[in-house]
Amino acid sequence: MDGSTGTSRYEEAYGAWRADPEGYWRQAAEAIDWATPPTRIFDGEAGVYGRWFPDARLNTCFNALDRHVAAGRGAQTALIWDSPITGRSARFTYAGLLDRVARVAGALAARGVGAGDRVIIYMPMVPEAAIAMLACARLGAIHSVVFGGFAAAELSARIADAQPKAIISASCGLEPGRIVKYKPLLDAAIALSPHKPGHCLILQRPEHPCELTPGRDMDFLDAEAAATPAPCTDVAATDPLYILYTSGTTGKPKGIVRDNGGHAVALMNSMSMLYGLKAGDVMWTASDVGWVVGHSYIVYAPLLAGCTTVMYEGKPVGTPDAGAFWRVAAEHRVKVLFTAPTAIRAIRKEDPEGALLARYDLSALEALFLAGERCDPPTAEWSATLLGKPVIDHWWQTETGWSISGNFRGLGLFPNRPGSGGKPAPGYDLRALDEAGQEVPRGQIGTLAVKLPLPPSNLPTLWHADARFREAYLEAFPGYYNTSDAGMVDGDGYVWVMSRTDDIINVAGHRLSTGAMEEVLAAHPDVAECAVVGVKDSLKGQAPLGLVVLKAGTTKGEAEIAKELVAMVRDRIGPVAAFREARVVQRLPKTRSGKILRATIRKIADRESYTVPPTIDDPLILDEIADVLKQAEK
Ligand code: COA
Ligand code: AMP
Repeated sequence: MDGSTGTSRYEEAYGAWRADPEGYWRQAAEAIDWATPPTRIFDGEAGVYGRWFPDARLNTCFNALDRHVAAGRGAQTALIWDSPITGRSARFTYAGLLDRVARVAGALAARGVGAGDRVIIYMPMVPEAAIAMLACARLGAIHSVVFGGFAAAELSARIADAQPKAIISASCGLEPGRIVKYKPLLDAAIALSPHKPGHCLILQRPEHPCELTPGRDMDFLDAEAAATPAPCTDVAATDPLYILYTSGTTGKPKGIVRDNGGHAVALMNSMSMLYGLKAGDVMWTASDVGWVVGHSYIVYAPLLAGCTTVMYEGKPVGTPDAGAFWRVAAEHRVKVLFTAPTAIRAIRKEDPEGALLARYDLSALEALFLAGERCDPPTAEWSATLLGKPVIDHWWQTETGWSISGNFRGLGLFPNRPGSGGKPAPGYDLRALDEAGQEVPRGQIGTLAVKLPLPPSNLPTLWHADARFREAYLEAFPGYYNTSDAGMVDGDGYVWVMSRTDDIINVAGHRLSTGAMEEVLAAHPDVAECAVVGVKDSLKGQAPLGLVVLKAGTTKGEAEIAKELVAMVRDRIGPVAAFREARVVQRLPKTRSGKILRATIRKIADRESYTVPPTIDDPLILDEIADVLKQAEK
């Protein structure tokens, strides 16, 4: 489908990395402007499994902005904000963006924020979110962006863990038909957290300005206007650039740490190798700065590479229609578009023939990249046929910061296989392992694991939690990083990622923990036990389904309890959990040792065939569950 000239160049690049990993990354590091260039590339003795560029120093913001202005790119557009939900848009040149970032950095510095301090950013998709991130990077401060779809309790957990000196937020976000008032969420989160930030900068949006809390809050734009621009502070390559919290198997999110040096090198390398982009090109990543995809490919990588990045505050459908993505791509001459398969499924559902696409000139668009969840072959095939351009599925995680596998435009594409996430990126020695940690033969499913060390940009550890890092990722298979994704590597080296091996589900490309949802359901006074599983959803890939057993003597109606449970998850985790289904059952299927058989429940809900687990304590429960779910469908 996509030409086949690339196999040998990909193999050459992968082979070059295998033959000399340090030489490969030494060369990639030349694309970064270092304050102190690395003399050592990797120190296997440092950190939990080693550290990249241990003796180098740099500033990430300098690499994303200042150096391009110094090189004469000041007048080039760095960032385009396109917001169909407000009907507004804006463009920022590299010089203009640098000026704003330096001032916001100055405003933070004036409030005592310096290198190593944490700043939480809780914002919608406005340019000030990217400006705030880069301002932190400029000071060597560590940002932690929290997705706007999370509720106060989730924000509070992140404030408690990161202990920020300041929080940057906005008065509101905008969802179709609804204003998301951030200020009450922020206030509630701070009230819940044992740690209180000293300062909050609040961006007032005309759609819903808010009251500022005296003594704590300051208007973002006023603080920026009053500030003296701050210079870049160089930090060690191994110093954290950001913490991004992601769902773990429990309610307590994991603080993924990203370092400055490895991140800059790997992201810069990925822009040419993977996306085939160079300075001056336009990249649009239709995601959110609250997710890793947004951190890497809305903010950092395109700017590190001197590209123009598009930041979109809207949806694939409904703002105003299913032609929105094609309108944005055409208007801004986007060369590479990156989004989640869910967005394409949403467009296809509303415009199956792609009639809206015909209105736009997509001659500048060269490729569509998809990630965040497994791309089903019909979605890959539909979009490739419609666009007549390569559609590339690539697999990655918050933990990695860039792609573990993909297809590499900069190396010439090899033929795509719909349903596969491409081949391992140079830097990743990927294996499928059995439970004993032995590699399974090619073509057989196992747990996908990366032989240590992980490449640059991958997490060196979890924030202040080395032991949890080891336990969550390194202990299952000594010498490997456990991706917790099940899949296989086929005879030709293509990677097929099938499902998670843990309690994580993927809803509309959003990573969610069923364990966290179970903790919420279990807190309902009438619930004795519960299980949450991810069931198939034709639009969002997966959707959470909750099964609850009520306490004896409960008098409340089942429908009322279900409604309360849905409201509780929305209130404690957030609307993004998209938890809409709770069913009451008499019992939950368990093994004789008491473990709930979640995988079997999921198969029943998905109408897949299943074998009755030999360890089940009472097989009849499975029929009861099937009956409840069948009745629910009626
Ligand atoms: N702030 C506040 N609320 C948010 C939010 C945000 N940033 N993002 C989503 N939500 C809310 C939605 O409004 C929705 O609320 P509702 O229950 O009141 O309707 C809820 O969270 C669930 O959102 P979502 O799962 O996104 O469903 P949706 O029906 O609103 O939209 C799609 C469906 C397909 C249009 C949407 O999921 C989408 O654009 N997906 C693309 C995926 C993507 O970008 N993933 C990023 C990782 S690469
Ligand atoms: P996140 O950390 O939110 O990026 O989610 C990471 C998880 O999403 C991975 O562990 C996979 O389960 C899933 N995922 C991301 N991209 C892909 C892909 N291209 N194919 C299959 N699964 C994917």
